[in-house]
Amino acid sequence: MKILIVDDEKISRRILVKKLGAAGDCVDVDNSKKALELFNKGVEAKKPFDLISLDVSMPKMDGRQVLRAIRKKEKELKLDKKNRVKIIMVTARMNMSTIKECIKLGCNGYLSKPVSKYQLMENLERMGFGKSKDDKNSDSKKNHGTKSQIMAQIINSFYKGKIKLPILPRIVNEVQELMKGDDPSIEDLGRIVNKDILITSKLISIANSSLYKGVDKAKDLNAALLRLGMKATYGLISTLVTKELFKSDNKALNNLMEKLWMHSFACACFGKRIAEELKNKNAETIFLMGIVHDIGKMLLLKAISDMKPEETFEDGELLLAIHEIHTTFGAVVLKKMKFSQEFIKISEFHHWNDFSKDENQALLIIHLADFLADGSGYDFSDFKEEESNDLEGLENLESLKQLGINKDKAMKIVKEIKPVIQNSAKAF
Ligand SMILES: [Fe+2]
Ligand SMILES: [Fe+2]
Repeated sequence: MKILIVDDEKISRRILVKKLGAAGDCVDVDNSKKALELFNKGVEAKKPFDLISLDVSMPKMDGRQVLRAIRKKEKELKLDKKNRVKIIMVTARMNMSTIKECIKLGCNGYLSKPVSKYQLMENLERMGFGKSKDDKNSDSKKNHGTKSQIMAQIINSFYKGKIKLPILPRIVNEVQELMKGDDPSIEDLGRIVNKDILITSKLISIANSSLYKGVDKAKDLNAALLRLGMKATYGLISTLVTKELFKSDNKALNNLMEKLWMHSFACACFGKRIAEELKNKNAETIFLMGIVHDIGKMLLLKAISDMKPEETFEDGELLLAIHEIHTTFGAVVLKKMKFSQEFIKISEFHHWNDFSKDENQALLIIHLADFLADGSGYDFSDFKEEESNDLEGLENLESLKQLGINKDKAMKIVKEIKPVIQNSAKAF
């Protein structure tokens, strides 16, 4: 059986190749244009694909449009029903109207991420592809079943409002209110921050860290705030508060959280530096974007540990499942936490790799920063095949190209920022 897998996310493609590999020969592509080319080629050569899995949300031309184009072509060719390719739509969004729309457009099945092998095989059987080579009662299947059950449970509880979302402490709102006012002053800011001893002392050490270091030492809060400025102070307070969320009493979870925090922090430091390089005025906001870009992962880890306290997280399968849905999940969380549209967009799309010409610069910066963080030894994903500590593929990164940064410049930034990440992390 010939299978075509279309998904813009590399990790999602890998999961599907791994899971569908048992059923046939897989070809995977990362965009719609290539998918349609391959589909047409197959038809012309009279060696059509038997099955296509289509990611619903892809940039430029999404899965629905590809589905429509394929069915239109088949109609033109007057192919009867049994000779049409079977198409499964794959998405992270559990949205009934999308499902209905795809069914109307002629899809044969529908899977939600994280795709479990069990779900997939059932779909294949339903479409008449027969049983896979895998033993139905194998451990692996049982395992996939439970892992996806955990995820399904969590997604369910989340949409039912049963998962508690973090509430940011009052200080964040107070500073936010102050900044919205007519003429916010550093003195007013100092009065608010002063009430919190921990944040005060942290802000002073951050002001003196290599991330912000000035000529002489900022000895007190006032000097620290003057050095940092209003915008940075607001971002840093939010950062300090967010860091608290990355803590847990569960030891296995705490280790993972620490790793995820360092990844987020590294992404923030790279993001800020790239923004400065590009003379983007919102470098401080971009820093905070880096801090929260993977917030979906953090909450999913916490939710799993609350539901299954015995979970050790040693199973790569579970981390993969988390990876698969963290973007959609993070976007919903940030929306509920009243973050701006720009933050929400970054959480949702930071793993895309095909951007439109007029793409938001902050999104491109975080995309690049995330890549640099991963490649500098601050990756979170244990399950990646590639060694961390390498920046292979950097020159082909779409965000790098669109930002107009060349590879050498990016490597220079890595060299400069790596020690800053190490030294300044302690201040937080
Ligand atoms: Fe991510
Ligand atoms: Fe990330």
